[in-house]
Amino acid sequence: MERLIIRGGNRLCGTVKISGAKNAVLPVIAATLLGQDRETCLDEVPNLDDVRTISELLRSLGVTVRHEPEHNKLFVDATTIENITAPYDLVRRMRASFLIMGPLLARLGRAKISLPGGCAIGTRPIDLHLKGLEALGAKISIGHGYIEATTPDGLKGAQIYLDFPSVGATENILMAASMAEGQTVIENPAQEPEIVDLANYLNLMGAKIRGAGTNVIKVDGAKKLIARDYTIIPDRIEAGTYMIAAAMTRGDVYIANAISEHLKPVIAKLKEAGVTVIEDVDGIRVVCDRRVRAVDIKTLPYPGFPTDMQAQFMAMLTVAEGTSVVTETVFENRFMHVDELRRMGARIKIDGRTSVVEGQTRLTGCQVKATDLRAGAAIVLAALVAEGETQVAYIHHIDRGYDNLVQKLVSIGADIKRVDC
Ligand code: UD1
Repeated sequence: MERLIIRGGNRLCGTVKISGAKNAVLPVIAATLLGQDRETCLDEVPNLDDVRTISELLRSLGVTVRHEPEHNKLFVDATTIENITAPYDLVRRMRASFLIMGPLLARLGRAKISLPGGCAIGTRPIDLHLKGLEALGAKISIGHGYIEATTPDGLKGAQIYLDFPSVGATENILMAASMAEGQTVIENPAQEPEIVDLANYLNLMGAKIRGAGTNVIKVDGAKKLIARDYTIIPDRIEAGTYMIAAAMTRGDVYIANAISEHLKPVIAKLKEAGVTVIEDVDGIRVVCDRRVRAVDIKTLPYPGFPTDMQAQFMAMLTVAEGTSVVTETVFENRFMHVDELRRMGARIKIDGRTSVVEGQTRLTGCQVKATDLRAGAAIVLAALVAEGETQVAYIHHIDRGYDNLVQKLVSIGADIKRVDC
């Protein structure tokens, strides 16, 4: 089994370049299914297991996919699409597989996708995806572990109110509505930068979407969408993770490519913790020369504090001056990193969706495991300041979402290596 071996105590300094966003590239790859006439070339595609999984999924539909990770490019030719089934093995590995439901319905009028099943971070139902697609005219049936959808009368524009601004549901509805007949209005949609990126890509293909990034999105359906080349936005969560690495190790790191507009709540909280954050058009410099201060955080849909940064922030708060309160409102059961941080000496109490984190801990290296992607990132951050050696197991979770983590951390001075033992 592969592990990360990390020796803590190094101050991180230098420049680290952020890759394309995982959560932007996955819906954009799903949207390539809508593109006709030619091949699509996507640029700034991060080298991640999740990208390999969705590529495998598209290939299983008969689509030609070529990945050139050394050039950050992915080529998709969806003109050859023939199947409509997403098998259990792929959906189980990556819930975002469900994002092909909207494009398949729009393009072929049929989709059959395995039920996602349990997930480490909360129950994560898909009811909002299904409600939205039904409003657009999809007929949905569930049986034998699969969700099957058809559009006997085609997709028709509709008024859709989302009870919760779900990122995935907004994306699925956007993709289906782009080729529906007439106008769709999505009220209370997700407003994440990844939604805006998907809408920009769909508009480039010929869709007519207005209001992405606000609380009402209007979509006028197009008859046909043409494949177009596209460049993915930088990953705000990867950027935020390196910002915390710089702050925790009292370092000085320039996070090249980071878009500060996408990181406002993270920057605000780091400043509140006493960290110096200098923003410019090409990136963000993070400097810290003292112990950070305790801050309270509460996760919320964008533009609130991102749930995908909660675990990493908590790792930082274990060594902060004072006691912090961390509240998770987006997912149930997203505190799996707490047990692993406790193994390293952290003093954290959980009460429902709230954790109380005592600061000024002397973290100590030990054997720990990544229980999910962001929990894995939190453990790595804690290990960077822990006394002695930390061994991190189950790093396949980290490979799902961090492009070249080891090389990037080594390049700014961390003592980290990947071993097979
Ligand atoms: C996306 C991100 C993930 C991030 C999350 C929240 C991708 C590939 N993943 O996940 O990294 O943590 O947004 O920012 O972009 N919900 C329902 N019914 C639904 C759909 C969601 O109740 O039909 C609930 C979920 O259980 C969860 C909350 O809504 O509690 C947020 O989920 P959602 O925004 O849909 O997250 P994902 O799109 O799965």
